[in-house]
Amino acid sequence: MRIAVLTGGGDCPGLNGAIRAVVRKCLALNYEVVGVKRGWLGLMKGDVEPMGAHSVSGILPLGGTILGTSRTNPFKEADGLARIEATLRDYRVDALIAIGGDDTLGVANALCKHGILTVGVPKTMDNDVALTDYCIGFDSAVSIVTDALDKLHTTASSHHRVMVVEVMGRDSGWVALVGGLAGGADWIMIPEVPASVEEACEHLRNRRGKGKDFSIIVVAEGVTPIDLSVTDDTSVDAFGHVRLDRRGVGEALGRRIEEITGFETRVTVLGHLQRGGSPTVFDRMLATRLGVAAVDCVKERKFGKMVALQCSQIATVELDDVISQSPRNVDPSLYELAAIFY
Ligand code: F6P
Repeated sequence: MRIAVLTGGGDCPGLNGAIRAVVRKCLALNYEVVGVKRGWLGLMKGDVEPMGAHSVSGILPLGGTILGTSRTNPFKEADGLARIEATLRDYRVDALIAIGGDDTLGVANALCKHGILTVGVPKTMDNDVALTDYCIGFDSAVSIVTDALDKLHTTASSHHRVMVVEVMGRDSGWVALVGGLAGGADWIMIPEVPASVEEACEHLRNRRGKGKDFSIIVVAEGVTPIDLSVTDDTSVDAFGHVRLDRRGVGEALGRRIEEITGFETRVTVLGHLQRGGSPTVFDRMLATRLGVAAVDCVKERKFGKMVALQCSQIATVELDDVISQSPRNVDPSLYELAAIFY
């Protein structure tokens, strides 16, 4: 048995732990394993190298991905499928493990329909892949957001300011909500719930009225408040996503809040810091468990599946179901929970 492993989409802490787990489990089973560079791009180009214990030695605490990644959609490239089939044939690959978010998993699922034996592993700091409670990278990202909010609290309180903190999250507000809750945010705006600047300002005035002379607002980059004009960048990536870092909802929101309330306001955009650094214990454990489980799937010839975490247990779900149900929205009860602390 020879297995290929790749990482696709945005990087995040924990990817290396998953690669390490795949390689180590393969070696334990006497399977051969090859690493594909830069996701689907490398698979199309034949950029593949053999991996052994030495390739993954010492990588568990490292952020990013030693294999590299890309946002390449092979079904949008000329002869993409044929080139992938050729690489898999040339390197005598029997099965492919794809570590990624819903775009990468969508390609893995489509490849399976073309007879390529695939297993998916969910990773995205957005945490919005369906049918898994957690994706690799999310816990590390929200830890960074929480740490940033702790730090921003002291400067906000010293200057009696409003601090707007923009975090990642295209379709779902997991990072904003969980990071905001853990970091004691005073108002959280997420894509799943209609947002209004007026409503936020009203809340800020109420807080001042109660003697709270500073406030922290967390906004997910994908939020479009009903009363704020935010322009989407027109350029899209290979999966049709617009660049949210260019629309600057945090900046626009901060400016408008200051205009409406007269409260001095500052804006922090956490950006790609949320995807950097060493993975948390939770992400290391999740990556290790999911990586091993993915190889177990191959061993049991369960293809077209994704390994998942459900109620603390490792589960196997259909990629078809994952793709049809993603992105996974935040649990509304968590949003209600956050409001108790505003
Ligand atoms: O896919 C996760 C994500 O972090 C999104 O929240 C964000 O919009 C996007 O990636 C940005 O990715 P990049 O700048 O790497 O293309």
